[in-house]
Amino acid sequence: MNNSELKKLFNSMTLSEKVGQMGQVTPDFFSNEGEITGPVAEMKLNSGELYSIGSILGTHKPEQVIDIQKKYLENNRLGIPLMFMADVIHGYETIFPIPLALASTFDTNLVKKVAQLSSKEAVGNGIHVTFSPMADLVRDPRWGRVLESNGEDPHLSSKLTQAYVEGYQGKSLLHKNTLASCVKHFLGYGSSEAGRDYNTVSVSDLELYQNHLPAFKAAIEAQVKLVMTSFNTVKGIPSSANKWLLGNVLRKELGFDGIIISDWGAIQELINHRIAEDSKEATRLAVEAGVDIDMMTSSYIKHLGDFIEDGEINIETINQAVWRILTLKNELGLFEDPYRGLMKLENLDQNLDNIRKELEPITRSVASDSLVLLKNEGILPIKTKSTKVGLIGPKAQTKDLLGAWSWIGDKSEVISIYEGLQEQFERLTLSTIDDTDSTSKQDLVIVALGENSDESGEAASRSSIQLQQEQVELLKKVYEINQNVVVLLINGRPIDLTNIVNYCKAILECWFPGTSGGAAIADVLCGRVNPSAKLPMSFPASVGQIPIYYNYLSTGRPKNESNKDEKYISKYLDIANDPLYPFGFGLSFSNFECGKVEFSSGSLSKDVPIKITVTIKNLSNISGKTVVQLYIEDKIAEVARPVRELKGFTKVSVEPLDCEKVVFEITDKDLMYIHSNLKEGADKGSFNVYIGFDSLAPKVGEFVLV
Ligand code: NOJ
Repeated sequence: MNNSELKKLFNSMTLSEKVGQMGQVTPDFFSNEGEITGPVAEMKLNSGELYSIGSILGTHKPEQVIDIQKKYLENNRLGIPLMFMADVIHGYETIFPIPLALASTFDTNLVKKVAQLSSKEAVGNGIHVTFSPMADLVRDPRWGRVLESNGEDPHLSSKLTQAYVEGYQGKSLLHKNTLASCVKHFLGYGSSEAGRDYNTVSVSDLELYQNHLPAFKAAIEAQVKLVMTSFNTVKGIPSSANKWLLGNVLRKELGFDGIIISDWGAIQELINHRIAEDSKEATRLAVEAGVDIDMMTSSYIKHLGDFIEDGEINIETINQAVWRILTLKNELGLFEDPYRGLMKLENLDQNLDNIRKELEPITRSVASDSLVLLKNEGILPIKTKSTKVGLIGPKAQTKDLLGAWSWIGDKSEVISIYEGLQEQFERLTLSTIDDTDSTSKQDLVIVALGENSDESGEAASRSSIQLQQEQVELLKKVYEINQNVVVLLINGRPIDLTNIVNYCKAILECWFPGTSGGAAIADVLCGRVNPSAKLPMSFPASVGQIPIYYNYLSTGRPKNESNKDEKYISKYLDIANDPLYPFGFGLSFSNFECGKVEFSSGSLSKDVPIKITVTIKNLSNISGKTVVQLYIEDKIAEVARPVRELKGFTKVSVEPLDCEKVVFEITDKDLMYIHSNLKEGADKGSFNVYIGFDSLAPKVGEFVLV
């Protein structure tokens, strides 16, 4: 539809039709024809209200989409189609590793590809918008939603967020297989106090601007279509009612002109936050703050019309919101084809099956690229097929490898660890702890431990992040019998591994690896795939260190080698300051070394960037990939700055006994930071440069910004 046709349609809408567009409900509102029960009854939507609603979230079957859209269009006066949204977080039905695992690849191309493929399957099932990516900065592994994040670093998260948005949306939403992307949760949700979900957030403006905003900014620069508000307060005001946050920061400063959608029920929750007395007041606060779509409450539908009729809210506010919603529907081509992307019904199953078949082998290679080798005392890879391998532990045969946010993923399709290993090892034995004899006779024993999928994700915060005691006991018993132990970990968050790290020779962090998880794990164990992933979050040595992250601010009393025994310095009495495994860390079967580092100049200016070239050597006879990481330290600044910050990363493949050159370009933009007046800029002066394979990389030189 061209713009003037859309305008014409818009001008013919009644007030209640406009308000309807700003509401969103689940598909069950359209079931039970003629019989108003369940959520429909609770929200007390009459049929006129239901058939004016703008969008649906969470459909699960293409037949359901077709059914609802058809019924809706028969009843909607102007024939404005519904928009279908869903949480396509790490795949639709074919499930890729969880986002935290995808972040471990440090591979923007791969993440983009995953987003493209997820779109393809979701679009085939009738979805138009995905509530992804989650760009929340996370530093507290007690918070279960770290699973959905890109980790603790703003630079990495920005690059990955951009890749997701580009992958989902393609160049234009009119192109086949594209989804509109909704970045979430704006803002600060990752800092829920004490890691407890939905808890208070209290972060300084400097911190919000410096660390929480960049990934959202990257999404907006990539033309993301929607932004979802967060459940938490920002400066005391819940995001969904926060005029400063949505009006000043998001709309004016970041220039976002797409749709702002509340999170589930968040407008009604303004009552629980005790900033609104009732849902009418909550409606006023949210709409005045700039929320365009009310997810899953009847607040807007029930009250917005009255506010307009009483002249308390300007109709222009509603007009702008509705125009944005219609514009997105139009960009998606829904007016021309309300069944966008859905295959012809007679061939639906066959077509979706074909997509699944195409995706499955890719999930295997993506998963093997996301496994982080944390420890290896020469026991991996398991070189020969005939090695006697024992497998034990609660995760050995489980199909629970998809992780949270995989509602539609079919567990029965999952390749378990046992099934994956069977493909690679001829003498594989499943054992139990009572089978001491068998355990002692194995060349090595794989102990598969970790979390269940409901132990991380939304509403899955934990105060302890160690493995369950029974799992630790099991590992210790196995280790007593046979010391050739390899631990596999299935989990959605950094785990405190201090109580298990000494009872094994190798640890492979497998996260929730998705549909082909077991096969991918076996690929790494047998050496078909050389691990290359790196931790996107620090693994603490104790829950007491949380929040722990590599880019902490310089303190007035830093601990170092020469003062470490003094009392009045920033340290713990009982443990070290350092995490067990730092950000960026992950081993390979190859042995990489950073060779010569060359700076194109000792100084850079606004117009002339510098190039830093490093030679990466593979000293082993195994070809492999690694992530070369460049960190910068601003020596003197106006505000206290991080001890170092990631400014560049490159995944590079190096053949055995060969080398490759990696070039990083540093511009003055990379040196900018938020000053005390909340303005971004770079100060002249010197900077240290660190290059290596994790966040403890050594200093390789320095330069000056002139
Ligand atoms: C609540 C979650 O916070 C959000 O991330 C999700 O997209 C919505 N529910 C919709 O399922």
